[in-house]
Amino acid sequence: MMKTIELQKQKIYCGNLMLVNAKYPLKTDDASNLIPADMRFPDILMKRDAANVLQLIIEKLSAEKSIIPVSGYRTLREQTDIYFTSLKDNGEDFTQKYVALPDHSEHQTGLAIDLGLNKKEIDFIRPDFPYDGICNEFRKTAPNYGFIERYKKDKEEITGISHEPWHFRYVGYPHSKIMTERGLSLEEYTEFIKAYRDDCRFVYRQSLDARVEIYYIPANKEITFISMPDNCVYQTSGNNIDGFIITVWRKNDD
Ligand code: DAL
Ligand code: ZN
Repeated sequence: MMKTIELQKQKIYCGNLMLVNAKYPLKTDDASNLIPADMRFPDILMKRDAANVLQLIIEKLSAEKSIIPVSGYRTLREQTDIYFTSLKDNGEDFTQKYVALPDHSEHQTGLAIDLGLNKKEIDFIRPDFPYDGICNEFRKTAPNYGFIERYKKDKEEITGISHEPWHFRYVGYPHSKIMTERGLSLEEYTEFIKAYRDDCRFVYRQSLDARVEIYYIPANKEITFISMPDNCVYQTSGNNIDGFIITVWRKNDD
């Protein structure tokens, strides 16, 4: 049996896969479902799913003492303060490289987290998160759970942000895994998925008997309808541009 799902056009501006960058600003200020990224730092918040997954990874790696959250969800006001304080303290060149313009920061979505190697002095804008030891273990493990390293060195021209080894973005599994395996930034993945439609879906083989189907649907009307088998788990996300990305978990005998 199939059911019909309605997606309101306004929802293209929310969800785990929303692309927020210099070109695509945040359109809705959604401060719902925020919880501490780490119970020891009650002021550093993330969206509930992202925070839960982050805690799971840290626990798996027994990294509680060595990796700490530095900056999570930011309000527009906080991003504005950070931007202008950095302009004053660090100058224009540095600020354009490492601080997104107000309303163009992923931190305002609650899906991004800056992590730092725990040490005496932690830089707020550029915490140390090296490519070895426990930090690199985190970096390698994160895509298995839904997080990606967002601002890579070889993607600076595409993301518009300089290399940020400390900034991780929750996009959800298996998107994180596909991006990592294919070496795609979120900008590139957003384009990549657009080629897959309801009748021609991207298939990610999760295991021998399970697969994940992913496709894009443009939001041409006030309400977009999709049909979904009754018995499957699915997720929808806006891309923050012009449509939705649908993720459907299937058993191979479905
Ligand atoms: N540091 C990242 C780019 C931000 O400010 O959102
Ligand atoms: Zn960041």
